[in-house]
Amino acid sequence: MKPLGHLRLGVNIDHVATVRNARGSAYPDPIRAATVAEAAGADGITAHLREDRRHITDTDIEGLMAALTTPLNFEMAATDEMQKIALRHRPHAVCIVPEKREERTTEGGLEVAREENRLAGFIAPLREAGCRVSIFIAADARQIEAAARIGAQVIELHTGAYCDYHAEGHFAERDAELDRLREMAGFAHSLGLEVHAGHGLTYDTVGPVAAIPQVMELNIGHFLIGEAIFRGLGPAITEMRRVMDAARA
Ligand code: PXP
Repeated sequence: MKPLGHLRLGVNIDHVATVRNARGSAYPDPIRAATVAEAAGADGITAHLREDRRHITDTDIEGLMAALTTPLNFEMAATDEMQKIALRHRPHAVCIVPEKREERTTEGGLEVAREENRLAGFIAPLREAGCRVSIFIAADARQIEAAARIGAQVIELHTGAYCDYHAEGHFAERDAELDRLREMAGFAHSLGLEVHAGHGLTYDTVGPVAAIPQVMELNIGHFLIGEAIFRGLGPAITEMRRVMDAARA
């Protein structure tokens, strides 16, 4: 099967804010990082406003909304506080992620199936406000079916287990996880969901995920911000784009 279309790269700038907050200084500035990422070919910027504000802050979200020329993908927990913030800013996309252990499946994605009614009610106003709602879940048919039923337009498949197995040298498990990601990307697409993927991706692991034809967007942060120490942020992103495009072709 040929890829369904252009594979977008969303650059997650959370960990620029992590470094800034380590000293309580004003730098490095995540908004500046977002601007550099856009210039280097990012198709969008991803930022996660955590309940404890451990990296991105409310002011950062305001700054991103004002400064970005590409869409903001606003990651947040399914709480009333975060819903209010999202409705105030109306970012292009909202990705619902688990924040607490109880909200998480064993594979790390959001437990949608157990919370269908609450989540359906939670995302309805976000959709009405024009946000494209995405749910961050493991490659699990039960969770994908639940995401479709609650009215999400997008699922983001959690690639953390696949990347961890690779890093630990457990290649049989890695390949089994990759097969699951491939199969579930196809299944989600068959239900009418747009498929994204992310978490833990590096130059070494991104290729096979970028090659999954139904995957339309990758969200990548931690590795790129780390790699920026050695190459600079723009070149780190350009190289990721190159590896993604090579695998997609
Ligand atoms: N996608 C989602 C939904 C995430 O929560 C994260 C991490 O914040 C990422 C992608 C990016 O993961 P990483 O920083 O490991 O590349």
